Amino acid sequence: MKICQTETYEAMSFQTARLIAETVAEKPDCVLGLATGTTPVGAYRLLSEWCREGKLSFARVRTVNLDEYLGLSEEDPHSYHFFMQEHLFRYIDARPENLHLPCGTAADPEAACRSYEDLIASLGGIDLQLLGIGRNGHIGFNEPGVSFDSGTHIADLTESTRAANARLFEHPSDPPSRAITMGIRTILSAKRILLAASGPEKAEALERAFTGPVTEQVPASVLQRHPDVVLIADREALSGLARRGFAGP
Ligand code: GLP
Repeated sequence: MKICQTETYEAMSFQTARLIAETVAEKPDCVLGLATGTTPVGAYRLLSEWCREGKLSFARVRTVNLDEYLGLSEEDPHSYHFFMQEHLFRYIDARPENLHLPCGTAADPEAACRSYEDLIASLGGIDLQLLGIGRNGHIGFNEPGVSFDSGTHIADLTESTRAANARLFEHPSDPPSRAITMGIRTILSAKRILLAASGPEKAEALERAFTGPVTEQVPASVLQRHPDVVLIADREALSGLARRGFAGP
């Protein structure tokens, strides 16, 4: 794993956006795995700016998002479809038909999981998968206890994840309790993984993920088995790893 430590959220966002932009420059028709949450918002803003300024083009890029809440339509302001439109898709020159997320309102969610796996395979696999990390070590919506052998599946969200995500809803009980998410096997099949993190509340999750045992109780710990992981995080998020002598300057 390579670690890139920054001082601030803004610098973390810049490094994250730069790695994504480099991937697109090297392979204009690359497949990007994208994430939601607060963490990637700054990077998405920069990518949008660079695209507007003509420094970068997503014209041939294909994207697949990690996850979507079950039961929320694309128009629901709390859906990840809506989030991606608001924070990235509406600002870039990608073709709408090349932008994919799991369908949260499929009549047959299990079939939607299978077709999402088929879709990723038909695109030729993911070149770069962007990840955030949950406080309990989840990636996508792969919660503690998930099988490392999971493909795209329906996940029951833990109360702690629902509570952490409740800030984006009007009422604490509003976050859906289930989601459709790429599985651990899906994520690990990406050629390269970029994990972005910011803030002290992520320090323990990163420490457990990268200095502890590889265990399904800490889903992100499986990243220790991937040959090409880049961790871009600010000093606060890396403080737990630094205590263990892992983080570089
Ligand atoms: C959600 C998403 C994850 C994300 C996590 C952390 O649970 N499903 O993909 O990594 O939140 O979000 P944040 O970046 O807001 O801390």
